[in-house]
Amino acid sequence: MTTAAGPNIRLYGLTKHYGAFKALDDVDLTIAPGEFLTLLGPSGSGKSTLLMALAGFVEPSDGDILVDGKSITALAPEKRNFGVVFQGYALFPHMSVADNVAYPLKIRSLPRAEIAKKVEDALALVQLDHLAKRSPKQLSGGQQQRVALARALVFSPEVLLLDEPMGALDKKLRHDLQLELRQLHRRLGRTFVNVTHDQEEALAMSDRIAIMRAGRIEQVGGPRELYDAPETRFVADFLGKSNFIEGKVIEADAGAVLVETADGPIRHATAGRPARVGDAVLLALRPQKLRLDPGGDNALSARVETAIFLGTHAEIGLRTESGLALTVNQPMERAEALPGEGSAIILSWDAHAAVAVKPD
Ligand SMILES: Nc1ncnc2c1ncn2[C@@H]1O[C@H](COP(=O)(O)OP(=O)(O)OP(=O)(O)O)[C@@H](O)[C@H]1O
Ligand SMILES: [Mg+2]
Repeated sequence: MTTAAGPNIRLYGLTKHYGAFKALDDVDLTIAPGEFLTLLGPSGSGKSTLLMALAGFVEPSDGDILVDGKSITALAPEKRNFGVVFQGYALFPHMSVADNVAYPLKIRSLPRAEIAKKVEDALALVQLDHLAKRSPKQLSGGQQQRVALARALVFSPEVLLLDEPMGALDKKLRHDLQLELRQLHRRLGRTFVNVTHDQEEALAMSDRIAIMRAGRIEQVGGPRELYDAPETRFVADFLGKSNFIEGKVIEADAGAVLVETADGPIRHATAGRPARVGDAVLLALRPQKLRLDPGGDNALSARVETAIFLGTHAEIGLRTESGLALTVNQPMERAEALPGEGSAIILSWDAHAAVAVKPD
């Protein structure tokens, strides 16, 4: 076990134009030594551009990247001491596994004996030492992925930049590799910056997640914080599913408000995001916080439109009297008999279950 190592990285006003289009738009971000940071966002939101700007393969149009207080914005990629696994993880097809991993050391002109030792260590780290002589096309997707990882790690970079390293893998293999990558992060104690558009991967792996949208960082925080306290509709919707209910505050007390909605008044505990009478509010409500019985602080009548068994839980699609579509997740032990499609039910939730978010 090593302790957290790695530099302090700061991005200031990082911007990348492609013609009139802004792939990165004034991004500020601090990456702490040794942290596992994930860039999460939809396709085209600028994740790869941000990672490649960090790596030095994309030249920013504006802004600065500081490492331990020194600007590296003009520094060539190979001078940055950052290991990179690119999106699509292309290995050199005509080289053996060992030669692929040796490549970054060869271009750094290390002595041959030292290269052999480091390659062996890097392959052992990803548990592929027994396949050193194979060619990449004789490996599975997950094995190729681990070779790419070994190649990025072999020169002991202070920072590892990973662009969708498990993108091409099936779900089971991806899960296994995620666990391995997390253990590797713990063991090495280096900074990892990982790009994904898989929200489960982001939640499972990260110390912090930066949610990207249209070239900007919409919100950054720990997985729990982002999931439980999204600031915007976009974050509430992108990281896990959410129901949204619109309304207007008609009564406000310390810590709680009454919100008039198309389906009648509902109680909402404001939890640090106070609102005043007359304010328009948008409430985000996770599907698992809704119940199909009248027990909570709020109750609405609704009709069941769909009820789907998903193994651990059932997903139930409802429509309220005003026509609002809502989704409820019920754990299976409570959902042995799924409600029939078309049946009328009472839906309820507690006043503190919703979070007020900014609309898009
Ligand atoms: N060389 C380029 N020239 C013009 N536009 C570009 C270039 N590279 C990227 N873009 C545009 O910048 C935006 C951000 O691209 P980027 O590759 O960073 O997205 P991403 O978040 O990594 O998406 P994905 O999840 O699909 O990999 C996209 O709209 C893309 O089309
Ligand atoms: Mg990308």
